[in-house]
Amino acid sequence: MFSHTRQDFPSDFLFGAATSSYQIEGHAQGGAGRTHWDDFAQTPGNIADGTDGAVACDHLNRWPEDLDLMRDANFDVYRFSTSWARVMPEGRGPVNEAGLDFYDKLVDGMLERGLKPAATLYHWELPSALNDLGGWRNRDVAGWFADFTQVVMERIGDRVWSAAPINEPWCVGFMSHFLGHHAPGLRDIRATARAMHHVLLAHGRSTEVMRGLGMSNLGAVCNFEYAVPADGSPEAAAATRTYDGYYNRFFISGLMNKSYPADVMEGLGAHMPDNYQDDFDLIGQPLDWVGLNYYTRKRIAAAPGPWPHLEEVPGSLPKTQLGWEIYPEGLHAFLKRVHDGYTRGLPLYVTENGMAWNDKLVNGAVKDDKRIDYLDTHLTQVKRAIDEGIPVKGYFTWSLLDNYEWSEGYVPRFGIVHVDYASQTRTPKASYLALQKALAQ
Ligand code: FCB
Repeated sequence: MFSHTRQDFPSDFLFGAATSSYQIEGHAQGGAGRTHWDDFAQTPGNIADGTDGAVACDHLNRWPEDLDLMRDANFDVYRFSTSWARVMPEGRGPVNEAGLDFYDKLVDGMLERGLKPAATLYHWELPSALNDLGGWRNRDVAGWFADFTQVVMERIGDRVWSAAPINEPWCVGFMSHFLGHHAPGLRDIRATARAMHHVLLAHGRSTEVMRGLGMSNLGAVCNFEYAVPADGSPEAAAATRTYDGYYNRFFISGLMNKSYPADVMEGLGAHMPDNYQDDFDLIGQPLDWVGLNYYTRKRIAAAPGPWPHLEEVPGSLPKTQLGWEIYPEGLHAFLKRVHDGYTRGLPLYVTENGMAWNDKLVNGAVKDDKRIDYLDTHLTQVKRAIDEGIPVKGYFTWSLLDNYEWSEGYVPRFGIVHVDYASQTRTPKASYLALQKALAQ
């Protein structure tokens, strides 16, 4: 049971769930081009269970059932993404009409069911052909992304309720080019600095295209992780500041303050593209809202070696299936921090929040009480922020369906709906049923 109902939130507060294209659609179908995730997944050792997104949840064919699930949960809004390679298989040039038709039908399907379509243009599946050209390292990516934006939004931009260019610039830039955990799997500081900047440049170009098409309600979605020092030493405090800088401050500062934090530039400055400062007017153009994705807290210790001189160490809080510490207060902290320090009155949305658990289907039911508790305690923190006057306007849980969790494959289950991948049977979990009740009008 949830301790909250819809009535505890302002009457215009929106509830929704989020998904992303590569994680659910089935990318081997419908004429989609190859993506850098297909390449990454076919390289041994990158994916925990060796899988890829070829079939995933077969959402490409089962989307009517999935949208019915959204509607029947009493959600108001559905956050989905459009796959670049499905629409433009080579990333540039020829358009796969079947791909465009799919998103067109999907948007109409949402509207028919009374769901507001919240589009994200890029949730990580870069066409391989563009990765061949340097991908996010190449400044031209911003122009390619602007063209993709134009093609998609000329088709669906008249009907989407909101749009954001890119999901989680930190993951696109840092995690994928410095840590090597996600495609393209690089571990290179120069590639990282360039990708981190180009992803914001692409955001800016894409936003400009959408404004040009007359679209409104445009935003940006960043992810945040609450960082705490592993011990009381000054070194751990410094390491935590550095982590916080490249994770939690770099992108929001570029977007809202037209600058990058000086402490992050101590590490990345030497590797930035020439004259990157000239791009800030494009990057920092006005937005209508900012979305925060929040999951966890990290403990940070100092470590020898080159910048950033830090490492993550295990924490003591209860953890999810992925070992992520559960720390609901961090969500409130970031809503406050982003509002006070950056957005200053702009509407905020929690665009992702949820947890993985090793959910089991037993006699046709999934008892995911831990997830109910996770969502409920995080909603408490959202409400706390609203009560303090912070303009939080909506909350999306990650995710509607169990799905392809990137380098963790299909083992972690993040859905409020269970998916049996062999039969593609969907079964609403206890968390879905509890939400459905809490959100009833
Ligand atoms: C976020 C991603 C999403 C999913 C969740 C668990 O960082 O946006 O695709 O992987 O984490």
